[in-house]
Amino acid sequence: MKIDRIIFATGNEGKMKEVRMILEDLEIEVLSLKEAGIAAAVEENGSTFEENAVLKATEIMKRSGGIVLADDSGLEVDALNKEPGIHSARYMGYDTSYHIKNQNIINRLKGKNGAERSARFVCAIAAALPDGRVLVTKGTMEGEIGYEERGENGFGYDPIFYLPEYGCYSGELPLEIKNSLSHRGKALQLMKDELQKLKEEAS
Ligand code: IMP
Repeated sequence: MKIDRIIFATGNEGKMKEVRMILEDLEIEVLSLKEAGIAAAVEENGSTFEENAVLKATEIMKRSGGIVLADDSGLEVDALNKEPGIHSARYMGYDTSYHIKNQNIINRLKGKNGAERSARFVCAIAAALPDGRVLVTKGTMEGEIGYEERGENGFGYDPIFYLPEYGCYSGELPLEIKNSLSHRGKALQLMKDELQKLKEEAS
């Protein structure tokens, strides 16, 4: 199987930038859905991050015929039964601001301290190959829910995600540093190794 071009199934430009940066030296062209001319809304009705990533990658692979990568990610808060989890984007409604979502999570953790506030970002990436194979990688970034929102960087739940090892919030990290520590960065590095193996297999 020749591997010179893949599609990363996202409409998010920020993610595309990160993906291209990490996969750069593989010498594989990485197209977004838009660039591939695919208008895709795939229902994410799996019950895990992995299932959702596989659903998305497989569906778009069937529509495009080439290798397709897709990801699914979210925040798990241990004291909240791993909520919002796979529902992170739709938690309290898609249109609710992250300021409100973040304040809600802080409020729900009232009275909890230190390790009782443990949480993690999770990212699963799936690659669906035209020959039917599906590869999945996963990365996590461990931390705690902070007591307030901090930082102007990042997006979503970054302002309440405290990294005890680094003594700062995810929202305070410059993008390049976050990418080197993040759930998505780690899952992408592992997927890069898988793609490298596929390339070697093909040559
Ligand atoms: P999706 O993987 O694009 O469906 O996004 C899942 C949701 O998880 C996002 O909308 C955010 O709410 C949350 N999320 C995933 N990764 C991050 C991150 O790195 N920082 C902050 N929030 C994140």
